[in-house]
Amino acid sequence: MKIALIQFAPVFGDLKSNIERLKPLLVKAKNADLLVLPELANSGYNFGSIEEAKQFSETIEDSIFINFLKKYCREFQFCVATGFLEREDRKLFNSALLIDQTGVIGKYRKLHLFMKEKEYFAPGNLGLPIFTIGDVKIGMLICFDWMFPEVWRRLALKDVDLILHPSNLILPYAQSVIPSYSLVNRIFIATANRVGTEEDLRFTGQSVITNPKGELIAQAGTEEEIVILDIDPKLARDKMITPMNDAFKDRRRDIYK
Ligand code: ACM
Repeated sequence: MKIALIQFAPVFGDLKSNIERLKPLLVKAKNADLLVLPELANSGYNFGSIEEAKQFSETIEDSIFINFLKKYCREFQFCVATGFLEREDRKLFNSALLIDQTGVIGKYRKLHLFMKEKEYFAPGNLGLPIFTIGDVKIGMLICFDWMFPEVWRRLALKDVDLILHPSNLILPYAQSVIPSYSLVNRIFIATANRVGTEEDLRFTGQSVITNPKGELIAQAGTEEEIVILDIDPKLARDKMITPMNDAFKDRRRDIYK
């Protein structure tokens, strides 16, 4: 499975510009099977008020952004995972969508909201769903979810091979823990971060792909960049650390649940 991380700087509050910016990037990644875009790729991040966030939001049923991505999925036969500012009824969610040529095939809503996100978004209410592309099992997390080992583990215990992680990372050390989550859960992780600044926030780029051995197998710099890498998701199904140690079966569930 060829994965492409699309590290770019969304234009704040300008859906049309974001689509225009993405077009050449998606074409450059056309040989990949699965493209991963950053968190809130349709809207930007640093809203001044809930009204402003609402103004930039879309519903899944009536989204110009999703229709654009669906069209490119059809044309280039790839799937896209993207962050998405989602409106449903009167609520806003910080969501991640998995899209193929038929439309949205997976939806996750961010569980752990960061700073002012707590004022704008409803916390995720869909749990930790898993999705499949071919025989590859996939989970999704969004940015600050990285801080909570429980969600990585929970998805790994649902036998995911790969976790997609659209992000707008700000804290300087977030990327450094991703290899460890890959290692202890024996899974692949694809973190697609954004770059650029919005007001007082600077986004750190350095998108990563890590493998079940905890190796950093791809890393972007701090500018706009596309990283494409071929992975074998089946490697995530071997949970043996040594011939006598299974990373999951050796857990002492009598001591900790
Ligand atoms: C973040 O969760 N966007 C830092």
